[in-house]
Amino acid sequence: MKRMNILCLCMTALLILGIAGCGAEGKDNSTGSSPVQESGEREVSGSENENGDLGAGEIAADKQGSADAGSESQSGSSNILIAYFSIPEDVETTDAVAGASIVIRDGEKMGNTEYVAKVIQQTVGGDLFHIETVEEYPLDHDPLVDQAADEQDENKHPELLNHVENFEQYETIILGFPNWWADLPMPVYTFLEEYDFGAKTIIPFVTHGGSGFSGTIRTISELQPGAHVSENTLSLSRNSVADSEEDVAAWAESLGLNVTEIAPDNSGDTVADAVADPVDQQILYLWEEGNMPAVTEYTENNGNYADDPDFRPYMVTFPVPEGTEVKGAVLINAGGAFQFRSDQMEGTPVAQELSRLGYQSFVVNYRLRPYTQEEGALDLARAVRFVRKYADVYGIDEKDIAVMGFSAGGILAGEMLLNFDGTVNGSALDDSYVPDELDGISADAGADGMIYSFYGRLSVASTDTDKFASSNLPPTYFCYGTRDPFVGEFEECVEALKEAGVPVEVDVLEGRPHGYGYTEGWIPAYDAWLTGIFENN
Ligand SMILES: Cc1cc2nc3c(=O)[nH]c(=O)nc-3n(C[C@H](O)[C@H](O)[C@H](O)COP(=O)(O)O)c2cc1C
Repeated sequence: MKRMNILCLCMTALLILGIAGCGAEGKDNSTGSSPVQESGEREVSGSENENGDLGAGEIAADKQGSADAGSESQSGSSNILIAYFSIPEDVETTDAVAGASIVIRDGEKMGNTEYVAKVIQQTVGGDLFHIETVEEYPLDHDPLVDQAADEQDENKHPELLNHVENFEQYETIILGFPNWWADLPMPVYTFLEEYDFGAKTIIPFVTHGGSGFSGTIRTISELQPGAHVSENTLSLSRNSVADSEEDVAAWAESLGLNVTEIAPDNSGDTVADAVADPVDQQILYLWEEGNMPAVTEYTENNGNYADDPDFRPYMVTFPVPEGTEVKGAVLINAGGAFQFRSDQMEGTPVAQELSRLGYQSFVVNYRLRPYTQEEGALDLARAVRFVRKYADVYGIDEKDIAVMGFSAGGILAGEMLLNFDGTVNGSALDDSYVPDELDGISADAGADGMIYSFYGRLSVASTDTDKFASSNLPPTYFCYGTRDPFVGEFEECVEALKEAGVPVEVDVLEGRPHGYGYTEGWIPAYDAWLTGIFENN
């Protein structure tokens, strides 16, 4: 028999955002059978909420209910994975019961965490993945808590029944679990150890009986030191889960995730053959198969690279909503040290906001390491050509095309403006590249945006005034925080640009670090600056 004292009066909140929860004392094996002492949590009455369609989008493969069903691989088509572990305990009821480890909707019985996962999935989309073990857990409370405690004592990592195929396609993993004995359930350890989360973002959520996250956030970071573990977490008391749909949906929306379907299978449209659509979103490859300029030979992923060798750079369009006046176009390059593209902070949400403000917006998914920034810059140039070719369709003046980037994405945009704009095409780098009609169109841009970025190379700003002066650089907007470690580099680059006669606008955000992405309220200032630039064109 096991008992654990939870001293978390702070867990009375219905919904706790961004807090890792207070710790719980460890279990001892003396008395009592429940791992949780309820601690003054808000009582929530049974929910009348209705939701008939929460299961859509679960990634393929039938649930295998028995140990001998064998191991399954499951695959989805999105860039967001919502993975959860949950045990719907055997409670005799046909209604939602506050505090029970189940939620019932339309006769379907779900575990607490499962229900929350499904609300998240219904809100933001993404692929749902149920972490299940080969050996099933008892559904009765006492044997369940005993088994969980034994597994923890033995540090047993149970074998999983199902596996995520194409794990590498996911940029963000929303990971849900119940607090079990002030820790992750052991199957979640197995799950975290099974995949390489390097360069991905993990967004944890927990359901619990009073302990919040305990130390699980730290544990996740320790198990996946390469991953970015988001601070925007969700902690829900089991007492409030059944009535939490609105809060969960609000939290899910606050994540700013907009699921993009995984690009392009290899039969997708390319910028060479597609016609721009100013209304509906398009995902377009930038190069024809077999004709992508490259000097890097990349044939095998040794595990160090986010994209596999068959990755084809592509752009995603975010048209201005109908009825909104069109001001111009902006091509956006997310950062990520050329190791990944931080789309959810620096790509999709930025494009959505700018399109609402009247800019035809485009996220450019350029090549990462092992390719060079020169090769990536050619990807951007190609995207600019497509936008210019269809300037009329997009309702813009062809001079009103801006590029911008965050961190490495800004360096990439700068590389294009310094060396690969105009009609410089892929053959400048790779003489086996065969230029096509689109390459005859200029890749010049009318403005550049450097969001905690600069002209130069990773970590090193260029101060080459001669090069700046001879490159016909467009007006450039800088925005960075005073706590950014590269403040000195930004300042030097700005000074050199001014000396070279390049019009520069600088917004400095007091106390802000590197990597704030679409947050911190800089977008209206950028919009005002860009509107002025385009109006003067
Ligand atoms: C084995 C076990 C251990 C638990 N340990 C804790 C705990 O240490 N702290 C806590 O707050 N809740 C604890 N709980 C309560 C669960 O976290 C809570 O009921 C959760 O919502 C269950 O989620 P599920 O229905 O998705 O499995 C435990 C529950 C079980 C079954």
